[in-house]
Amino acid sequence: MAQNYWYNESVFYELYIRAYCDRDGDGHGDFRGAIEKLDHIKSLGVDCIWVMPHYPSPLLDDGYDVADYVNIHPDYGTLDDFKAFLAAAHARGLKVITDMVMNHTSDRHPWFQAARQDKNSPYRDYYVWSDTGTEYADARIIFLDTELSNWTYDEVAGQYFWHRFYSSQPDLNYDNPKVHEEMFDAMRFWLDMGIDGFRVDAIPYLYEREGTNCENLPETHQFLQKMRRMIDSEYPGALLIAEANQWPRDLLPYFGTPEAPEFQVCFHFPIMPRLYQAVKAGEKTPIVDILNDTPQKPAGTQWMTFLRNHDELTLEMVTPEVRQWMWEQYAPEPRMRLNMGIRRRLLPLLDSDKRKWFLLHALFLSLPGAPIIYYGDEIGMGDNIWLPDRHGCRTPMQWDDSKNAGFSDADKTYFPVHAEYAQVNVAAQEADPQSYLNLTRALVRARQSQPALRRGEMAWVEVGQESGGNTAVLAYRRFLPDESEGVLCLFNLSDRPQTFALHRERVDLLSGEKMAGEVGLRPFAAHWLV
Ligand code: NOJ
Repeated sequence: MAQNYWYNESVFYELYIRAYCDRDGDGHGDFRGAIEKLDHIKSLGVDCIWVMPHYPSPLLDDGYDVADYVNIHPDYGTLDDFKAFLAAAHARGLKVITDMVMNHTSDRHPWFQAARQDKNSPYRDYYVWSDTGTEYADARIIFLDTELSNWTYDEVAGQYFWHRFYSSQPDLNYDNPKVHEEMFDAMRFWLDMGIDGFRVDAIPYLYEREGTNCENLPETHQFLQKMRRMIDSEYPGALLIAEANQWPRDLLPYFGTPEAPEFQVCFHFPIMPRLYQAVKAGEKTPIVDILNDTPQKPAGTQWMTFLRNHDELTLEMVTPEVRQWMWEQYAPEPRMRLNMGIRRRLLPLLDSDKRKWFLLHALFLSLPGAPIIYYGDEIGMGDNIWLPDRHGCRTPMQWDDSKNAGFSDADKTYFPVHAEYAQVNVAAQEADPQSYLNLTRALVRARQSQPALRRGEMAWVEVGQESGGNTAVLAYRRFLPDESEGVLCLFNLSDRPQTFALHRERVDLLSGEKMAGEVGLRPFAAHWLV
């Protein structure tokens, strides 16, 4: 059997430092503040924190526009503050990974400034230039709502530069081996400090080749194998997670092979929209189909599953018909849409229906994979669709009902605190065992208490004629090879009561209830039966 690496069985938490807790009173969260909130994160039962970009940056893409790879954004504190945060997390048994933005820098990065000013600068070749801006015409535009082209003319340089995201984010040139070394040095800087790994951003786009869509190219995979060789030889055990929003067949190569590995963990993008699709349609087929289409991954690797993150709920990995349907269902107002997705948070997407929130969590926390929870979703935070871009899902964490939800003493916070905060906050939910917060804790604890859910196999369970043979009921088993039973995960995806025939008495881990015989499944019911 494959070795059980820690990440295979971990639950992750996505932390946006700017949003979490402001200790120095400037209206931006900082590492000092986050240290005070580590006990909250620990209380959720998670094992590892992913820190979104924390680098100096003009924040035109919330830090995914890096101006210095080996420092901390001054709003978030100092390198010493980061070290203190890391030590405090480790002292609580929490691992910490950070974001490695590989594909591009900010245009304010000194490399780009030097490159644009001097054709003969050694930094010129750190970026991708053109006299005409006509090359690589088959590469799609990712930020469709704002960018007209992947090329932008730079007056200072007198040439066009290539960018897959905002025009303030010039792509690095991976045909230049110096760029590899720069990125490796940046990784070494943080790994030497003791971080546990990286979530590596936007990796499908590292290389460009004429006549291709400039995604998932063989050269990209060769570079990623080189990166993994560096990690394995210098920092064995450090975790690399791939952010590649791709179909399963294109995702699989990012694990590499046993001889030439790339990432230990890959986000499974295509599952995510199908969970929402299934709950809205009251129909399990989208979930069953995508899991049946997901190829076997190499031993020792893992998928990362999620319901929401800091980006729009991406609909890139569904058909155009489903995308249109999802927009109609989940984003009826145009301002709720962005690029190929939906810029809303988890609970409002679910009509603030606690049954659906519980169902989706029970689903994603029982599927194979390492689940990650986005900050704020553990209390069912709302979104602010009046803020532009993806900002409406990145508002300050709501701790209590005091000024600025206890996030900051400042008179102005980086984005406004959500108006709901007096009702929706951590303190208000502490005491109520049925609050989102306590349900999150209970679900994570229940998952982590079951080896079969942490690392077991998965098999579909027939929903037979006696149960109406319908597609509203989703049932699967998670089990270890030496167990015959494991955990039976049972879900009613629809808003109507359903039934399911149990062949023996079982106990629901989620409610403590005993269940036997022909059991009734309430609308949106979720059970983990042992
Ligand atoms: C993916 C990140 O999740 C997103 O927030 C960012 O805008 C792009 N990569 C570009 O870095």
